[in-house]
Amino acid sequence: MPLCRGQALSGRQVKIIHPAIDIRGVYKRFTLPRPLGRAIIHPFERNRSEVLKGVTLAVRPGSVTGLQGPNGAGKTTLLRILAATVIPDSGSVEILGHDVVKHSTRVRQQMGFVLSDERSFFWRLTARHNLAFFATLANLKPEKIGARIDELAELLRITDELPKPFRDLSTGMRQRLSLARTLLHDPQVLLVDEPTRAMDPGAAKRTRHLLGQTLAAELGKTVLLATHSIEEARDLCEHLAFLKDGKIVVEGAVDDALKLVPEIFEVDL
Ligand SMILES: Nc1ncnc2c1ncn2[C@@H]1O[C@H](COP(=O)(O)OP(=O)(O)OP(=O)(O)O)[C@@H](O)[C@H]1O
Ligand SMILES: [Mg+2]
Repeated sequence: MPLCRGQALSGRQVKIIHPAIDIRGVYKRFTLPRPLGRAIIHPFERNRSEVLKGVTLAVRPGSVTGLQGPNGAGKTTLLRILAATVIPDSGSVEILGHDVVKHSTRVRQQMGFVLSDERSFFWRLTARHNLAFFATLANLKPEKIGARIDELAELLRITDELPKPFRDLSTGMRQRLSLARTLLHDPQVLLVDEPTRAMDPGAAKRTRHLLGQTLAAELGKTVLLATHSIEEARDLCEHLAFLKDGKIVVEGAVDDALKLVPEIFEVDL
């Protein structure tokens, strides 16, 4: 059953709830490199891996939805498609009603993507200078950039890290800095890939609180996150979708979906 795309009835009024993220029948294949000898003998042959095989998922506005699945299931690929950095072979994806392929610029203004292994920061620049650079790219007004950086640094508890060069930050601090960078332009929809993977338990708990309470519950933002952590899914998500063999095999309320974890991962937990 879809997470939304339904009708909420209150009295005699009918209210259509449009999904904040609407994924319909997405396919994605990657062409893999081949040994030179084989490429010469069979120039038209293609070695393809089919990663997503018709993924359909609707995410309700203001909710936190988790994406789980075995390594290599295609979670990051799906998030990259939503973030308009990978183009799907077929199917459609809309974020806040905008097609991510046709209107990628508009989508990027309203969406933030936090990668699990962020590599786009400048290693020699300080954390503050990095954030200032990305704030300028995001078209923030120059006079507001300093205050916005301070506000986010306080929220993510990285104020003491701001004067340090990026290369000197720990992995967990880099992850927090990535989250701060993503929030600079105050996006409505957040796509987050394994947000607490390298964080200590305290930082992980605060990040979950930030995503679930502050951003989703209080500010009404929509969050879709990939996570391997069952604890994180239980703490943070209302809904959970499992991706396996390129398809969503289970989706629903988090407690119901988690009961199927042993079957999906083929282990006794
Ligand atoms: N650019 C690419 N070119 C070729 N293959 C790719 C590319 N990007 C991803 N893949 C392949 O797609 C598959 C899915 O990868 P993806 O990173 O989306 O999985 P994941 O579910 O995020 O895994 P994990 O839990 O390990 O993070 C993998 O087999 C990967 O090798
Ligand atoms: Mg991944």
